[in-house]
Amino acid sequence: MALWGGRFSQAADKRFQAFNDSLRFDYRLAEQDIVGSIAWSKALRSVGVLSDDEQQQLELALNELKLSVMENPEQILNSDAEDIHSWVEQQLIDKVGDLGKKLHTGRSRNDQVATDLKLWCRQQGQQILLSLDKLQQQLVDVASQHHDTVLPGYTHLQRAQPVTFAHWCLAYLEMFERDTTRLKDALNRLDTCPLGSGALAGTAYPIDRDALAQNLGFKRATRNSLDSVSDRDHVMEMMSAASMSMLHLSRMAEDMIFYNSGESGFIELADTVTSGSSLMPQKKNPDALELIRGRTGRVYGALSAMMMTVKALPLAYNKDMQEDKEGLFDAMDTWHDCLDMAALCFEGITIHKDKTLQAAQQGHANATELADYLVSKGIPFREAHHIVGVAVVSAIEQGCGLEDLPLATLQQFSPVIEDDVYAMLTIESCLAQRRALGGVAPEQVSFAIQEAQKRLDKR
Ligand code: ARG
Repeated sequence: MALWGGRFSQAADKRFQAFNDSLRFDYRLAEQDIVGSIAWSKALRSVGVLSDDEQQQLELALNELKLSVMENPEQILNSDAEDIHSWVEQQLIDKVGDLGKKLHTGRSRNDQVATDLKLWCRQQGQQILLSLDKLQQQLVDVASQHHDTVLPGYTHLQRAQPVTFAHWCLAYLEMFERDTTRLKDALNRLDTCPLGSGALAGTAYPIDRDALAQNLGFKRATRNSLDSVSDRDHVMEMMSAASMSMLHLSRMAEDMIFYNSGESGFIELADTVTSGSSLMPQKKNPDALELIRGRTGRVYGALSAMMMTVKALPLAYNKDMQEDKEGLFDAMDTWHDCLDMAALCFEGITIHKDKTLQAAQQGHANATELADYLVSKGIPFREAHHIVGVAVVSAIEQGCGLEDLPLATLQQFSPVIEDDVYAMLTIESCLAQRRALGGVAPEQVSFAIQEAQKRLDKR
């Protein structure tokens, strides 16, 4: 039965009903709707709308309902209720009779849905924070195991300077840590309770909204009823945190797809996260990573769809806002799944240290070292840069590395070069020199690993 029959003399067209109903997706708010309803029943008791006994009966019935929906949420889908709010109310009336009809006193589905959705964001946000931590821990573990595994570092996808696999892991760790703080910021900002704002103008019952907010675990109540029912900033903030994090996931996935390619052969993913080809028997494809990369697009799509929907909506509630849920649910599910899948991709990963080392040794990635060496001998950097450029051309012509050029040859480029140059040109030296904060030197990498582990242990 619809919640609003009195004013109508005709039944809704079936096609309109199907178009209008949101139960098929907002059934996911059942738990939050029930929790919000219990808190509302207490607020009604405190202003004398419900007696102690009535409130207890409602709470008991709502708790029973909660257990039942948590066990089997799909049962809700068998109903023809318009949305989750109508469904919960109808179930309550079925359980306790006319008393159930008192619950909606002073409340609107507008403040109700706004509250439910914030409760959902909060719960989902906590799950995602756990997944972000799990992925960060995985990166710290791989970094510890590959503290000294040399990896070519790229700019413009050209070998630039050697780094380590650990340093690469720690770069992504930084991104996921920023994602964590971004999500926490969003959760912090949405921590205000709209319940008790009524349809738009506030509730006509003298409810202590701050107490109600605290009862639902919110920091405080929202301050303006018009804003309370029409604010969906948090939906977009959650999706924008998701978008940024998906961007990071997609870059990490892309790096790993390249490292896993036949062209580089730096890593090999486990069989558990790869798939074969129906035609080509030799193939082992990085599908998990490609899907992470691919699903990034739909999260951006959900965010921009929501921004388009809310843009220029007049105050206060409009039905357009019902469009907030499917995109949000999908974006959050996708983010959550992709974080977990990324962590899984590191399980059973093989890193071919010989290949990564070999690649790092090629491409004259120690050219900067030679320039720095000349600087240490008093040559201004710009001039040193030019000298080394000429030396690189000569090494290319001879098909060897800078470190393979005999001293006499190197001295033709600059007479200040002495025998001690060779020690500077090793990979170990390239790494060790970069010992300023945040650099790839082994002691900096150890420090970064320790700091990250301390941070994760505190959570
Ligand atoms: N299903 C609606 C939504 O998700 C609930 C609020 C309906 N309010 C209303 N006045 N029609 O936004």
